[in-house]
Amino acid sequence: MDSDSGQIRKRLTFAIISHPDAGKTTITEKLLLFGGAIHVAGAVKGGKAGRQTTSDFMKMEQERGISISTSVMGFEYGGRSVNLLDTPGHADFSEDTFRGLSAVDSALIVIDAVKGVEERTRRLCEVSRMRDTPIATFINKMDREGKEPIELLDEIERELDIGVRPLTWPIGQGRSFKGVFDLRGNRLHLFAPKGEERPDEVAAFTGPDDPGIDAIVGESAARRLREELALVSAVYPPFSEEEYRRGAATPVFFGSALNNFGIRELLDNLVEFAPPPLSKTALERVVDPEEEALTGFIFKIHANLNPRHRDRIAFLRVCSGRFERNKTYLHVRTGKPFRSANPTAFMAQNREIIDEAWAGDIIGIHDTGTFAIGDTITEGEALHYRGIPAFAPQIFRTIRNADPLREKQFRNGLDHLAEEGVAQILSKRKSPGARVVGVVGQLQLEVLQARLVHEYGASCVYGVMDYSIARWVDSDDRKALDAFLDEHERRILVDAKGGNILMCESEWELGYIVKKNAKIRFHTTNEALHGT
Ligand code: G4P
Repeated sequence: MDSDSGQIRKRLTFAIISHPDAGKTTITEKLLLFGGAIHVAGAVKGGKAGRQTTSDFMKMEQERGISISTSVMGFEYGGRSVNLLDTPGHADFSEDTFRGLSAVDSALIVIDAVKGVEERTRRLCEVSRMRDTPIATFINKMDREGKEPIELLDEIERELDIGVRPLTWPIGQGRSFKGVFDLRGNRLHLFAPKGEERPDEVAAFTGPDDPGIDAIVGESAARRLREELALVSAVYPPFSEEEYRRGAATPVFFGSALNNFGIRELLDNLVEFAPPPLSKTALERVVDPEEEALTGFIFKIHANLNPRHRDRIAFLRVCSGRFERNKTYLHVRTGKPFRSANPTAFMAQNREIIDEAWAGDIIGIHDTGTFAIGDTITEGEALHYRGIPAFAPQIFRTIRNADPLREKQFRNGLDHLAEEGVAQILSKRKSPGARVVGVVGQLQLEVLQARLVHEYGASCVYGVMDYSIARWVDSDDRKALDAFLDEHERRILVDAKGGNILMCESEWELGYIVKKNAKIRFHTTNEALHGT
């Protein structure tokens, strides 16, 4: 049995991020197959006919074929305990993705070789880089005619503002795709399209100049490989683990997830150099994962993970020490003791009760309504992890109960779903009873409505509000703030923690108000406001 420190160092907790359709689900499935966490292809997502899912657990996700909420899957591979976080690719759920990224130590970006860097890739990469998260890159769909590999690398470097260090190199592309050359091991992995008899073949060489390569892929493909590799080594410095760890450069892999090609190389490399749990910053201090005392934070709350269990699950990222079943911890926000009799680990297809978990792990805790996103758990220290801000909403709707007989269910549902972060529930400053929903994307409104119906038997009606920009406001001058709030009263909302939000119709209007009110501070997230 490993020591606590050994257990912590072997953890590898990462998230896969991509623009929808780049192949994230397919890659997740292949990684789980290698990790032995699932045994049949299609267990994560079936074909078009039966999109049954593991990583997408909500009904709505199934209907829409998009991954709405973050799910976690654990497996063992190459001596590491891997925790893989699946994050929503859809823009409307960027808050959920952001929360997921706060709980991992590295990220894998998937890029479609045909489409190159897309809008969501850019945004998600920005978010990861806010915290210098190490990023690895997989260029997928090499079996399709796409952009030239050099062009793709150039695009990644330019658009994501990160150094690229190819660790494998494709031989041909699309119909002429023959395989990839592994630059670290000087090995040639031959591609076998799905359905063909020939299994993946691997051959080792002395280097790209080895004449043996010609015999296998043909002279012209071998010549082209050499030319491209000469260019690559002239343009890009060699891969450095140190650069990758501080988020300055990304190792790049090529392959085709659908054909299960290039995924093993990716995984073999990740378990070799992807970081173990990193230090996490709390408001009070930086916490080292190998500290003996347990600390962790809740980054997600989800109801109905499994339709057979109707309670909520709070997702805890363990940041330091060891978590033990039935041990009493401190729930810092409420100051109350907390104990879990059935903490669960997430495997691909089910949940399993565990006795202990280590820094780096993500565990599920049965929650009866005690936890909120961002809560810290410790062995007694008054510590507050930072880093799960709320974003200024861009869409506002008044919301009211549509069925007077189910008022209680409506209110409960709204409160619970707000705690889960499905949407921000705000109130009007002078009429606190009137509720307003604030979201970043339209789909969040649909999810809120659908979940009220499915889980609480409550229905709601939205009313349009013509605001599209919001800022949290505060000031060191209490009087100035009160005067400001009074002056703009009809466009001021109050969040769950008492923070004031100003809504505007346009950037121009916001700019005008900012200019006229020098004593007021305007914030795009609530981070500065609540000091969290
Ligand atoms: P996502 O989670 O990032 O949204 O992407 P997903 O894995 O669902 O893949 C999107 C589509 O791209 C799927 O096709 C999938 O089969 C296809 N795909 C994934 N990897 C590759 C690859 O290496 N090569 C090629 N040619 N296609 C790939 P679909 O038709 O939308 O869905 P499905 O019916 O296959 O499930």
